[in-house]
Amino acid sequence: MKRLDYLFEANKAWATSVKERDPEFFSRLSKQQAPDYLWIGCSDSRVPANTLVDLPPGEVFVHRNIANVVVHTDLNVLSVIQYAVEVLKVKHIIVCGHYGCGGVAAAMGDESFGLIDNWLRHIKDVARFHKDELDKLPHAERIDRMCELNVMAQVNNVAESSVVKAAWANGSDVSVHGWIYDIGNGVLKDLNVCVSGQCEVSR
Ligand code: CO
Repeated sequence: MKRLDYLFEANKAWATSVKERDPEFFSRLSKQQAPDYLWIGCSDSRVPANTLVDLPPGEVFVHRNIANVVVHTDLNVLSVIQYAVEVLKVKHIIVCGHYGCGGVAAAMGDESFGLIDNWLRHIKDVARFHKDELDKLPHAERIDRMCELNVMAQVNNVAESSVVKAAWANGSDVSVHGWIYDIGNGVLKDLNVCVSGQCEVSR
Protein backbone atom coordinates (compact mmCIF):
# COMPACT_ATOMS: atom_id res chain seq x y z
CA MET A 1 0.00 0.00 0.00
CA LYS A 2 1.36 3.36 -1.01
CA ARG A 3 1.76 5.86 1.79
CA LEU A 4 -0.39 8.56 0.19
CA ASP A 5 -3.23 6.28 -0.84
CA TYR A 6 -5.56 8.13 1.49
CA LEU A 7 -5.22 11.23 -0.68
CA PHE A 8 -6.30 9.29 -3.77
CA GLU A 9 -9.23 7.91 -1.80
CA ALA A 10 -10.19 11.42 -0.73
CA ASN A 11 -9.91 12.59 -4.33
CA LYS A 12 -12.19 9.81 -5.58
CA ALA A 13 -14.79 10.67 -2.96
CA TRP A 14 -14.58 14.37 -3.84
CA ALA A 15 -14.92 13.77 -7.61
CA THR A 16 -17.90 11.50 -6.97
CA SER A 17 -19.66 14.02 -4.76
CA VAL A 18 -19.10 16.84 -7.29
CA LYS A 19 -20.55 14.65 -10.07
CA GLU A 20 -23.55 13.78 -7.93
CA ARG A 21 -24.34 17.45 -7.43
CA ASP A 22 -23.53 18.48 -11.03
CA PRO A 23 -23.15 15.58 -13.49
CA GLU A 24 -21.79 17.86 -16.26
CA PHE A 25 -19.27 19.68 -14.04
CA PHE A 26 -16.06 18.01 -15.23
CA SER A 27 -17.03 17.61 -18.89
CA ARG A 28 -17.98 21.29 -18.99
CA LEU A 29 -14.72 22.44 -17.36
CA SER A 30 -12.56 20.16 -19.48
CA LYS A 31 -13.58 22.08 -22.60
CA GLN A 32 -12.24 25.45 -21.43
CA GLN A 33 -11.46 27.67 -18.46
CA ALA A 34 -12.82 31.21 -18.30
CA PRO A 35 -11.92 32.62 -14.90
CA ASP A 36 -12.61 36.28 -14.13
CA TYR A 37 -9.92 36.44 -11.45
CA LEU A 38 -6.17 36.09 -11.22
CA TRP A 39 -5.14 35.49 -7.62
CA ILE A 40 -1.57 36.25 -6.58
CA GLY A 41 -1.19 35.01 -3.02
CA CYS A 42 1.14 33.53 -0.45
CA SER A 43 2.10 29.83 -0.56
CA ASP A 44 1.08 29.54 3.10
CA SER A 45 -1.06 26.39 3.49
CA ARG A 46 -3.62 28.34 5.50
CA VAL A 47 -4.44 30.70 2.63
CA PRO A 48 -5.94 28.60 -0.21
CA ALA A 49 -7.34 30.94 -2.86
CA ASN A 50 -10.54 29.18 -3.98
CA THR A 51 -11.52 28.16 -0.47
CA LEU A 52 -11.37 31.68 0.99
CA VAL A 53 -13.74 33.11 -1.57
CA ASP A 54 -15.80 29.92 -1.83
CA LEU A 55 -15.31 29.47 -5.56
CA PRO A 56 -15.16 26.10 -7.35
CA PRO A 57 -12.49 24.92 -9.84
CA GLY A 58 -12.52 26.99 -13.02
CA GLU A 59 -13.17 30.35 -11.38
CA VAL A 60 -9.74 31.52 -10.19
CA PHE A 61 -6.38 31.48 -12.00
CA VAL A 62 -3.81 31.20 -9.25
CA HIS A 63 -0.17 32.08 -8.66
CA ARG A 64 1.29 31.66 -5.20
CA ASN A 65 4.77 32.19 -3.85
CA ILE A 66 6.32 32.99 -0.50
CA ALA A 67 4.89 36.29 0.73
CA ASN A 68 2.98 37.05 -2.52
CA VAL A 69 5.82 38.95 -4.14
CA VAL A 70 5.69 40.27 -7.71
CA VAL A 71 9.21 40.75 -9.05
CA HIS A 72 9.75 42.34 -12.44
CA THR A 73 12.42 39.82 -13.38
CA ASP A 74 10.45 36.76 -12.24
CA LEU A 75 9.48 35.00 -15.48
CA ASN A 76 7.15 32.74 -13.55
CA VAL A 77 4.81 35.45 -12.21
CA LEU A 78 5.17 37.54 -15.37
CA SER A 79 4.12 34.58 -17.52
CA VAL A 80 1.13 33.94 -15.27
CA ILE A 81 0.07 37.59 -15.49
CA GLN A 82 0.53 37.63 -19.27
CA TYR A 83 -1.49 34.46 -19.83
CA ALA A 84 -4.21 35.60 -17.44
CA VAL A 85 -4.55 39.05 -18.99
CA GLU A 86 -3.95 38.37 -22.68
CA VAL A 87 -5.40 34.89 -23.16
CA LEU A 88 -7.88 34.31 -20.35
CA LYS A 89 -8.80 38.01 -20.24
CA VAL A 90 -9.38 38.08 -16.49
CA LYS A 91 -11.18 41.17 -15.24
CA HIS A 92 -9.54 41.36 -11.84
CA ILE A 93 -6.04 40.71 -10.55
CA ILE A 94 -6.09 40.22 -6.79
CA VAL A 95 -2.89 40.42 -4.77
CA CYS A 96 -3.79 38.83 -1.45
CA GLY A 97 -1.44 38.85 1.52
CA HIS A 98 -2.19 37.65 5.01
CA TYR A 99 -1.50 38.78 8.56
CA GLY A 100 1.16 36.81 10.36
CA CYS A 101 2.96 35.99 7.10
CA GLY A 102 6.09 33.99 7.90
CA GLY A 103 7.88 35.33 4.85
CA VAL A 104 7.24 38.92 5.86
CA ALA A 105 8.24 38.19 9.47
CA ALA A 106 11.47 36.55 8.30
CA ALA A 107 12.23 39.55 6.10
CA MET A 108 11.80 41.84 9.12
CA GLY A 109 14.38 39.93 11.18
CA ASP A 110 18.11 39.37 10.92
CA GLU A 111 18.14 35.58 10.96
CA SER A 112 19.45 33.83 7.85
CA PHE A 113 17.34 31.10 6.20
CA GLY A 114 19.65 30.30 3.29
CA LEU A 115 18.51 30.59 -0.32
CA ILE A 116 15.20 32.19 0.57
CA ASP A 117 17.05 35.22 1.98
CA ASN A 118 17.48 36.38 -1.61
CA TRP A 119 13.75 36.21 -2.24
CA LEU A 120 12.98 38.02 1.01
CA ARG A 121 15.27 40.90 -0.01
CA HIS A 122 12.37 42.22 -2.05
CA ILE A 123 10.34 42.59 1.13
CA LYS A 124 13.26 44.11 3.01
CA ASP A 125 13.37 46.77 0.29
CA VAL A 126 9.68 47.57 0.89
CA ALA A 127 10.31 47.72 4.66
CA ARG A 128 13.22 50.10 4.19
CA PHE A 129 10.99 52.38 2.14
CA HIS A 130 8.50 52.57 5.06
CA LYS A 131 11.05 52.52 7.89
CA ASP A 132 9.81 55.68 9.64
CA GLU A 133 6.21 54.44 9.87
CA LEU A 134 7.21 50.91 10.90
CA ASP A 135 9.70 51.98 13.58
CA LYS A 136 6.90 53.74 15.50
CA LEU A 137 4.88 50.52 15.89
CA PRO A 138 5.20 47.73 18.49
CA HIS A 139 6.79 44.54 17.08
CA ALA A 140 3.57 42.53 16.47
CA GLU A 141 1.80 45.44 14.81
CA ARG A 142 4.90 46.20 12.77
CA ILE A 143 4.77 42.80 11.06
CA ASP A 144 1.05 43.03 10.36
CA ARG A 145 1.41 46.55 8.99
CA MET A 146 4.30 45.33 6.87
CA CYS A 147 2.04 42.54 5.53
CA GLU A 148 -0.32 45.30 4.34
CA LEU A 149 2.47 47.50 2.94
CA ASN A 150 3.88 44.50 1.09
CA VAL A 151 0.52 43.88 -0.61
CA MET A 152 0.32 47.54 -1.63
CA ALA A 153 3.84 47.42 -3.07
CA GLN A 154 3.04 44.28 -5.04
CA VAL A 155 -0.19 45.80 -6.38
CA ASN A 156 1.97 48.61 -7.68
CA ASN A 157 4.41 46.12 -9.21
CA VAL A 158 1.56 44.36 -11.04
CA ALA A 159 0.23 47.70 -12.27
CA GLU A 160 3.72 48.69 -13.45
CA SER A 161 4.28 45.43 -15.32
CA SER A 162 4.61 45.70 -19.09
CA VAL A 163 1.71 43.28 -19.60
CA VAL A 164 -0.79 45.26 -17.51
CA LYS A 165 0.37 48.61 -18.87
CA ALA A 166 -0.04 47.30 -22.42
CA ALA A 167 -3.50 45.95 -21.58
CA TRP A 168 -4.59 49.35 -20.28
CA ALA A 169 -3.08 51.09 -23.31
CA ASN A 170 -5.25 48.79 -25.44
CA GLY A 171 -8.39 49.76 -23.55
CA SER A 172 -8.67 46.70 -21.28
CA ASP A 173 -10.69 47.24 -18.11
CA VAL A 174 -8.63 44.83 -16.00
CA SER A 175 -8.20 46.13 -12.45
CA VAL A 176 -5.66 45.30 -9.75
CA HIS A 177 -6.76 44.87 -6.14
CA GLY A 178 -4.90 44.59 -2.83
CA TRP A 179 -6.48 42.38 -0.16
CA ILE A 180 -5.33 40.94 3.12
CA TYR A 181 -6.57 37.83 4.88
CA ASP A 182 -6.79 37.30 8.62
CA ILE A 183 -5.80 33.72 9.45
CA GLY A 184 -7.22 34.24 12.95
CA ASN A 185 -10.84 34.71 11.85
CA GLY A 186 -10.99 33.74 8.17
CA VAL A 187 -11.99 37.23 7.04
CA LEU A 188 -10.67 39.06 3.98
CA LYS A 189 -10.13 42.82 4.02
CA ASP A 190 -9.89 45.11 1.01
CA LEU A 191 -6.95 47.48 1.41
CA ASN A 192 -8.64 49.88 -1.04
CA VAL A 193 -5.64 50.27 -3.28
CA CYS A 194 -7.44 49.23 -6.47
CA VAL A 195 -5.94 50.53 -9.69
CA SER A 196 -7.70 50.26 -13.02
CA GLY A 197 -5.75 52.49 -15.37
CA GLN A 198 -2.19 53.52 -16.08
CA CYS A 199 -2.78 57.06 -14.80
CA GLU A 200 -3.61 55.65 -11.36
CA VAL A 201 -0.28 53.91 -10.79
CA SER A 202 1.47 55.57 -7.87
CA ARG A 203 5.17 56.21 -8.14
CO1 CO B 1 2.66 34.17 3.98
